[in-house]
Amino acid sequence: MPGELSKYLNISRVEEEFNQLAAFTDPKRPYTRRAFTPLYDRSRKWLAAQMEKSGLTARFDSAGNLIGTLPGSTDKAPAIMVGSHIDTVYEGGRFDGIIGVLAALEASRIIQSSNKKLSRPLEIVDFTSEEPSDFGISTIGSRAMAGILTEKELNYTNEAGKTLKEALHEVGGNPNEIEKSKRNVGALHAYLELHIEQGRVLEANKTSIAIVESIVGIHRYKVTVQGRPDHAGTTPMEMRSDALVSASIIVEAVETISRELSSNDYYFVGTVGLMHVRPNSSNVIPGEAEMVFEFRSDNYNLLRQATEMIDEKIKKLETMRNITISKDTISETKPLKTNQKIKELQKEACQKLNHDFLTLPSGAGHDSVLIGKIAPIGMFFVPSKDGRSHCPEEWTDFYHITKGIEVLTQTILELDNTELLPYD
Ligand code: HGY
Ligand code: MN
Ligand code: MN
Repeated sequence: MPGELSKYLNISRVEEEFNQLAAFTDPKRPYTRRAFTPLYDRSRKWLAAQMEKSGLTARFDSAGNLIGTLPGSTDKAPAIMVGSHIDTVYEGGRFDGIIGVLAALEASRIIQSSNKKLSRPLEIVDFTSEEPSDFGISTIGSRAMAGILTEKELNYTNEAGKTLKEALHEVGGNPNEIEKSKRNVGALHAYLELHIEQGRVLEANKTSIAIVESIVGIHRYKVTVQGRPDHAGTTPMEMRSDALVSASIIVEAVETISRELSSNDYYFVGTVGLMHVRPNSSNVIPGEAEMVFEFRSDNYNLLRQATEMIDEKIKKLETMRNITISKDTISETKPLKTNQKIKELQKEACQKLNHDFLTLPSGAGHDSVLIGKIAPIGMFFVPSKDGRSHCPEEWTDFYHITKGIEVLTQTILELDNTELLPYD
């Protein structure tokens, strides 16, 4: 990448693609492009066309992952895979995930224009539904590629009663052959992902690049509190079975446990981000409250400890109050360290390009955690303005994106002829 390759990087072309992709949003809730919606399908058809225009062969695998392939000079060698996701949270941003796919696409064009033929195939991937989907689970495409998307999860339904299986058909997948999207260990040489930091550290340090050293594990659960709906005016306090009050005690417990377990040594956070109250009327005592909460940490033992603590709390609450509580596991992913050798190549790439860098953990989950089960992984971050993400204010200057694409491309070139141990 030093000098000679930078001239092939066309950042206005990349910016134009960001703008075109951002236009695929629910106009009333920018920026919303939820997986398994007609908007999402149209955006992926646009992306597939961009891949083809960029000299790649685009296809959907049976899990609906959109994969653009650039053949290498020796196609037999395991491919280098680079990508991320273009689905968003509700009212999310224009960079989360998107930057990883568009930067990878630009890297593939730089490599082709510079005639630096890779010996290995290069696969650019947009993973199906990285964000928590309306079926409950997240990282659906990368789960399938890692071979851990289960039949039970394929039969999860959304509020309309459609199964994930049916939805995958609609995004170009073929869930009856879901195993065909699985890659065995060794099938990929390495996986790289460029992502926004979604935090404040790079900006505070006036640095454009971070090399990611670890990614948090996430334990995500659905809790349903069953009380009894009653008239809010005529039911005396001592005769109530109020589901929302008990749910609020659980919400506070998630925060208390998370504050207790977060320390300088380990990263620990807990959130209740979703709550449904039924019947949700101002003059009816809530009969039911359903929430989803999650714990995240780079320390697996702390994740298990937090889960035990909340289970204890729920058991006590049930006996103290006239309610029943059920807790279902949505997903439990373990924390993951990135590959040591790839980190060295990333550092070399930054040094060759004279780009300062930091080394950071990731508090966000990524497809790379799932792909890390079958291949060595490496990740880069670029700064998020004011640390904001998962909101329309999400922004990254193209000055930083340029540097991100440069280090990503250089690392791909270095990876091409570097033998890797599968795991640290
Ligand atoms: O939730 C996450 O960490 C990611 O944005 N899906
Ligand atoms: Mn996200
Ligand atoms: Mn993301």
